[in-house]
Amino acid sequence: MSELLEPMLDLARRALANAHAPYSRFRVGACVRAASGRLYAGCNVENAAYPVGQCAEATAIGSMVAAGDRQIVEIMVLTEGPELCAPCGRCRQQLAEFARPDARVHLCGPEGVRLTTTLGELLPLAFGPDTVGPDE
Ligand code: THU
Repeated sequence: MSELLEPMLDLARRALANAHAPYSRFRVGACVRAASGRLYAGCNVENAAYPVGQCAEATAIGSMVAAGDRQIVEIMVLTEGPELCAPCGRCRQQLAEFARPDARVHLCGPEGVRLTTTLGELLPLAFGPDTVGPDE
């Protein structure tokens, strides 16, 4: 595993350990690396009103935006079960707001990276900022 991935996995593991997932019991940790080099982690935050729950990727993105970064260059998602867990559709769209199609997405289990893909492979023909041409 590359040197850059170790700290991402470490932060994702720590975030996963703090996941609030009492309803699904499916804990998720995520970490995004910004173009600045800074890392932002997140976990899923469920709610008794089930649809209000937030995915781990969204938590990481929110932390990144709050800290002032806007460009994601690498993404990691960590789960505990044996199945490969890719970002849900909503998360793919949220990631596409801040990452280019060539951004690598690492799908991980406790042992490390299981599969590396790209956001473009996960969300082809994306509707994104370029489509609507935002000001910033
Ligand atoms: N979950 C994530 O955190 N990220 C994903 O991309 C897929 C799903 C969470 C949401 C919910 O808390 C739990 O996993 C089960 O769906």
